[in-house]
Amino acid sequence: MQSMDPTTYTDLTQGKIKHILFRIAVDFSTRTLEVESTYQMQEPIQGSLFLDTYKIDLKEARTNGRELTWEFDEENNILGERLHLKGLENDSTFTLTFRTSPEARALQWLNASQTAGGQLPFLFSQCQAIHARSVFPCQDTPSVRFTYSAEVEVPQGLVGAMAAEQIGIDEGTGMGSTVFRFRMPQPIPSYLFALAVGNLEFRELGPRTGIYAEPQTIQAAAWEFAENEAKIIEAEKLLGPYLWGRYDLLVLPPSFPYGGMENPRLTFLTPTAILGTRGMLSLITHELAHAWTGNLVTNATWQDFWLNEGWTTYAETRITEVLEGKDVTDLHLAFNEKQLIAVMNQVGMDSPLTQLKLPAERDADSFTTTIPYFKGCFFLQECEYAVGRDRFDAFIQKYMASFQFQSLSTEAFLDFLKAELPEVFEKVNVHKWIYETRLPEERHRPKSHLYDEVENVLNEYERGIKPTREQIQNWHRYQVLSFLQGLPPKIPVEDCKYFDEILELEKRKDVSIFSYFYVIAIASGYKEILPRVEQFVDKIGRMLYVLPVVRAMIGTDWSHGYIRPLFERVRDRHHQITVHAIERLLTDAGL
Ligand code: BES
Ligand code: ZN
Repeated sequence: MQSMDPTTYTDLTQGKIKHILFRIAVDFSTRTLEVESTYQMQEPIQGSLFLDTYKIDLKEARTNGRELTWEFDEENNILGERLHLKGLENDSTFTLTFRTSPEARALQWLNASQTAGGQLPFLFSQCQAIHARSVFPCQDTPSVRFTYSAEVEVPQGLVGAMAAEQIGIDEGTGMGSTVFRFRMPQPIPSYLFALAVGNLEFRELGPRTGIYAEPQTIQAAAWEFAENEAKIIEAEKLLGPYLWGRYDLLVLPPSFPYGGMENPRLTFLTPTAILGTRGMLSLITHELAHAWTGNLVTNATWQDFWLNEGWTTYAETRITEVLEGKDVTDLHLAFNEKQLIAVMNQVGMDSPLTQLKLPAERDADSFTTTIPYFKGCFFLQECEYAVGRDRFDAFIQKYMASFQFQSLSTEAFLDFLKAELPEVFEKVNVHKWIYETRLPEERHRPKSHLYDEVENVLNEYERGIKPTREQIQNWHRYQVLSFLQGLPPKIPVEDCKYFDEILELEKRKDVSIFSYFYVIAIASGYKEILPRVEQFVDKIGRMLYVLPVVRAMIGTDWSHGYIRPLFERVRDRHHQITVHAIERLLTDAGL
């Protein structure tokens, strides 16, 4: 039986998982998790149950004192293997004993040398979109939610952290191990399951907020994110009460494939967000907003991804407006619009990837572009303009309250929008925004005087006048980004050198700025950049910034030959998700 959602083997007619009890032993020597998981179903299951797995080594399946038989009866290199459990006789609970693979897609096992401290190993998971199945057999679709509790046994001296409530720490039964106990009382979809193990220290930031990081980074991290409590208070005004208890951050090593991941109660974060200036706070605003838009109200399938990311980007701009002011927000929006159009051009204006409702695709990660983020945000802004902010704000609160802890499709959302705010449909071409490619011509364009300043400099540059160091010295980070984004794709090598100097790139720690500059530098033939690019691709896993650099290397004659050998040198240092994404770019290019 083929399920409607092509990213999963789950058959929802068989019944849904309700709760899972995990006992996990973390083994760094074999790079595996040894797991016993006991499942409680919503209702008793008669006969078969299909679960998603990826390279799971299943050892035993039991229920109510009986052994269960099983078969991995379908397989696919993206979806993994369908686990077909057999012989259930109206059982509503069963227990699986298994081991994960060292190649588990969700897990990155790091050597000590890849951490800030350099002394102890590190492990972290990244389950979104469809990688939870490589950690435990599950119905790996965002339309199934379950609660869980977990015991995680880790080697002594390491700390286990989960996106859940910590309820205790005990001595392990094994020699020299510690057991961390957790519970997640709010139902979550599988992609929000998260685990990390490392030399982690915890520091309180506020009554509900704190931060985990390696001892070497905790001080800087605590300073950078000291304002998180104020953020929650602001977010609550827009979105309603924060229902997850605590909001902590976990700073990961730089190979983390994303900027942030909104794991409930515990956002996972790239260390490159620590700039020493509190300059990348919109990233936290984004991940925090997901506590509502995404975690509380969840997209039912990955085709509805804009419901998670478009809503979150919209909420991010609203919260940024309060915390950082309208000027900065408008600048972000102007940048986002340019970025959206650039990405749409890159995938092709008529590609179905430019629709908000995405096409059915097996590989959910392959349609992760920023289009649903920005186009989704601009669509929601149009809805806001159509009814006015007050009414839209009341709608947001009602939307959150009505669908909390539920998953919904684009169509269910549109039904709700129609019932609550019918005028939106008179003023906005909703169908066009959601189901058609490109960007509708009739829309409000972002206006930003900070962006206009940059545009003036760009226009002058086109006429041959380069900006001076003084002119750009006090630019906001997003102005620098907008400038780099607005430059022609190729510029004279001397100009690369000049911008490298006046932007003081060597002094900056900002990977987003590096990424934009490296792309231009590569395309322009500024070959001196190569060692810095190599170092960047070696260290940084954040795909939003690494993949464009890889694409530039592939697409430029002089650098074309360097990328495959570079990738082979660094692949062991990256998360499987990043490796998979780069591998796809290289093979698509015939490399
Ligand atoms: N939930 C996403 C990360 C993600 C998306 C993981 C799709 C797997 C599949 C997260 O909230 C996110 O969007 N992160 C962005 C930062 C954001 C500010 C644009 C990132 O990682 O770059
Ligand atoms: Zn997001």
